[in-house]
Amino acid sequence: MTAADNGLEQIETASIDELRALQLERLRWSVRHAYDHVPHYRQALDGAGVHPDDVRELSDLGKLPFTTKADLRDNYPFGMFAVPREQVSRIHASSGTTGQPTVVGYTREDLETWATVMARSIRAAGGRPGQMLHNAYGYGLFTGGLGAHAGAEKLGCTVVPVSGGMTERQVRLIVDFEPEIIMVTPSYMLAIVDEMVRQGVDPRSTSLRVGIFGAEPWTNHMRCDMEERLGIDAVDIYGLSEVMGPGVAQECVETKDGLHVWEDHFYPEIVDPYTGAVLPDGEEGELVFTSLTKQAMPIIRYRTRDLTRLLPGTARTMRRIEKITGRSDDMIILRGVNLFPTQIEEILLATAELSPHFQCVLSRTGTLDSMTVRVEHREGVPTDVAQATGERVRRLVKSRIGVSIDVEVVAPAVIERSVGKMRRILDQRPTR
Ligand code: DLL
Repeated sequence: MTAADNGLEQIETASIDELRALQLERLRWSVRHAYDHVPHYRQALDGAGVHPDDVRELSDLGKLPFTTKADLRDNYPFGMFAVPREQVSRIHASSGTTGQPTVVGYTREDLETWATVMARSIRAAGGRPGQMLHNAYGYGLFTGGLGAHAGAEKLGCTVVPVSGGMTERQVRLIVDFEPEIIMVTPSYMLAIVDEMVRQGVDPRSTSLRVGIFGAEPWTNHMRCDMEERLGIDAVDIYGLSEVMGPGVAQECVETKDGLHVWEDHFYPEIVDPYTGAVLPDGEEGELVFTSLTKQAMPIIRYRTRDLTRLLPGTARTMRRIEKITGRSDDMIILRGVNLFPTQIEEILLATAELSPHFQCVLSRTGTLDSMTVRVEHREGVPTDVAQATGERVRRLVKSRIGVSIDVEVVAPAVIERSVGKMRRILDQRPTR
């Protein structure tokens, strides 16, 4: 890495032409590497009648078949690895709550690349060498904790590897150690803020200056709320295990206008979620990634299920993704109307009487699906006011999203807190 005077890597502000040339060279290597060393890719490409030599332009990527989570599951545990297992330095895996866990692997060099993009992310978020960083992403098989940790060390921060949970202690460590940066899921940050208040610590009085929040969807309304309550800059970080982990894309603190994809390592496309057709930049669809440098587990055209659009670069040359609206599998279809929990979050956060703690509960009577938004009111709001607020939210959802829902306003601290990713949707419909 050659650090320029401003601390950025040269490629972050290189010309588009230089970036595209690098991507093409790397793409050709990556497809060839996958084809030569992973039987799944050889079969998939042969089946689609394409060969690595057919990739002459970046747009040729569209000829290659997609990879899905099912492909990773079918090749459980190590079938997608392109290097002998002894060369794999580390394994991570998804939690597997919805079936077979998906396993990912990294060579020593992959870990180095990951630390580099993660360090780049923290820097873009406003972090600097010498600062202290409180890392409350979970350590273990989840990529959040260890991924963020290595990047923070590489940037030259002092890392406090707290992991998730034990919220009382999180607050004590923040007060005692005085970190400038916190990395945590936005929903767990909310739980930490509540605990600060409970302990009599004014959230605005702490040493924290930057919050790097990700691993789950959150809205710009939530950003404003957290910046206000904590007196920090709140920026978004995106990533997924199959592609690397945290640090695939990062919002810059000076612009806060979406997340720059670190395109020198991860090539993004947006496709129509139904037809799979590649969509032009600017159009909303499903995000698809191809790794350009990964050795242990190259990934070709991975369907993330995350919905967003690609925008031109601003603070960096590399393109941005807009804040993720949600995952296509988190889309609720209620009596024919599509909606995402982020749309509900936006409405709740614009309502002063309500807290950002909420869940969408789906149920079914007969053949009719219904949804109840359970949301906590803020401390000190009288019951009758809280009930009237619920009614107002119900009407707002009807007029803005076009669907009737129920709203149940509950007392503070009633809804279960997450220590990592929050489960926004509670599906109580019987399985058919
Ligand atoms: O959540 C990696 C990560 C850790 C990212 C810490 C950021 C911070 P997975 O567990 O594999 O990896 O889950 C990946 O989480 O496909 C999205 O659906 C969701 N996700 C991650 N970051 C964001 C974000 C990590 N900033 C899945 N906004 C992804 C919205 C996000 N959704």
